[in-house]
Amino acid sequence: MSKNVEAARDGLIAAARAVRSHAHAPYSGFAVGAAVLDEQGRIHAGCNVENASYPQGWCAEASALAVMVAAGGKRVQAMAVCAVADAPVTPCGGCRQKLREFAADDCPVWVADAVELRASHSLGNLLPHSFGPQHLLP
Ligand code: THU
Repeated sequence: MSKNVEAARDGLIAAARAVRSHAHAPYSGFAVGAAVLDEQGRIHAGCNVENASYPQGWCAEASALAVMVAAGGKRVQAMAVCAVADAPVTPCGGCRQKLREFAADDCPVWVADAVELRASHSLGNLLPHSFGPQHLLP
């Protein structure tokens, strides 16, 4: 991992933690925040957004990625997720695939709670042997 990415870790976690307070999670009561570091070193954050029609809700990681794309970001250098649970909250399977669209296997995924870093993973470790853009694009 590059020094720049490592240096961004605490700020990325802080952004995920801050945006978590905006989660719209009236049904599960489970607030999640996520933040991504783009190729320009910018941070984009998003929270989960639930819906009365339950399957229409989406995850914090998906929000953060959408915010990055809307801002012109192309690649994810790192992701942070913040939630409060006994077990560290890693991105769901669908969000691992969504992250894969923009990130390499060595992309760090930092998992935090309201207080501290709980776990460090890489995307390749969370989603091994993944299907990705390289299968479809020249
Ligand atoms: N959720 C996320 O936003 N990210 C995760 O990594 C796990 C789950 C959300 C989806 C739903 O709004 C709530 O948490 C409970 O599953």
